[in-house]
Amino acid sequence: MELRLKERLGRKFDEEIRFFKGWMDGPKRVGAICPTSSVTAKRMASVVDTASGLPVLELGPGTGIITKAILKHGVAPDRLVSVEYSTDFYQHLLRTFPGVNFINGDAFDLGRTLGAWKDKTFDSVVSAIPLLSFPMERRIALIEDLLDRIPAGRPVMQITYGPISPVIANPDRYRIKHYDFVVRNIPPAQLWLYTRS
Ligand SMILES: C[S@@+](CC[C@H](N)C(=O)[O-])C[C@H]1O[C@@H](n2cnc3c(N)ncnc32)[C@H](O)[C@@H]1O
Repeated sequence: MELRLKERLGRKFDEEIRFFKGWMDGPKRVGAICPTSSVTAKRMASVVDTASGLPVLELGPGTGIITKAILKHGVAPDRLVSVEYSTDFYQHLLRTFPGVNFINGDAFDLGRTLGAWKDKTFDSVVSAIPLLSFPMERRIALIEDLLDRIPAGRPVMQITYGPISPVIANPDRYRIKHYDFVVRNIPPAQLWLYTRS
């Protein structure tokens, strides 16, 4: 029992070191200083409709906390497509989550990054891209691109750390809903949903 606990704590520590190393290599790209908590990851994954039969798109999986929550929520690994910019994180993800469709590429250039998946409709998007590190025009373009890839009414779930939506309102183009404020996260996290009617 004690050994199992030590193993688990050891794994968690390894994950934090890996995340911190990624942060040292590119703080703006990684955005947060700690991996998302499992409580937050579960809240984010909860919006995925496992009965839709459609694949799910994840952006910025990092060390894979949210990936794990999406799989635990009931998505089969081969129905999850996950785009990570850092090659180091990508290699780690391939080893940790066999069967998931990881792509090492840029979420801001999905037409190219998604390859064979580029014309597929996804059920929803779960994103941990550090939007605040990018200019507003690029954030808006990303959200609009993501909404074009999912059915009307289905959500793009986005985590952020600021008090307001990281994408400005544009009611003619999309709707914004505050989903949750999760205190059990370092730093506390805000979850936002973007949809088209
Ligand atoms: C805040 S971390 C989140 C990591 C992980 N999902 C978590 O919650 O702990 C942001 C992640 O987005 C990735 N990222 C940043 N810009 C990206 C881009 N343009 N395309 C794909 N991934 C990107 C970073 O490499 C990093 O893994």
